[in-house]
Amino acid sequence: MGIPLTVLPLAILLHVAGCSPPPEPVVCTHGTSNCTVTNSFGSFPDRSICRAGNVAYPRTEQELVAAVAAAAAVKRKMKVATKYSHSLPKLACPGGLDGTIISTARLNRTVSVDVERRLMTVESGMVLRDLIEAAGVRRGEGAGRPPP
Ligand SMILES: *[C@@H]1O[C@H](CO)[C@@H](O)[C@H](O)[C@H]1NC(C)=O
Ligand SMILES: *[C@@H]1O[C@H](CO)[C@@H](O)[C@H](O)[C@H]1NC(C)=O
Repeated sequence: MGIPLTVLPLAILLHVAGCSPPPEPVVCTHGTSNCTVTNSFGSFPDRSICRAGNVAYPRTEQELVAAVAAAAAVKRKMKVATKYSHSLPKLACPGGLDGTIISTARLNRTVSVDVERRLMTVESGMVLRDLIEAAGVRRGEGAGRPPP
């Protein structure tokens, strides 16, 4: 009798804590225009969402600089969003439909790996799963090297 009672909550916990990633926090009705942004829970602690006029998905540092420069040139407010937005607080909305969201979702590559110094440099939108995978691949390349 005792076993099912301990297994059941664990099964529920595993189910709730399943492996499917949360939905993307930025949703737009027209391509990259007329957007809302929230966190991975679907609403901020004050039960609100943020609205924004558009979103940019830079893929390179140059595209990121260009997106920020373009928004700054016309004095648009900006808010950074990540791929999954685990950060709970809202802090500030990007100014409603006059604002711009800069998403790091596509800035997700490994920049460099220095095996000797055990140093990885990655772009700011790298997700932990990809980071671990990239670290594992690189460690595997140093054949015979004991794991750290
Ligand atoms: C903009 O998005 C909101 C939902 O966030 C929607 O209700 C509204 O109809 C959209 N506006 C246009 C012009 O599509
Ligand atoms: C980066 O993001 C893109 C688009 O979401 C995805 O296709 C790709 O697998 C991700 N990971 C890496 C390492 O590029």
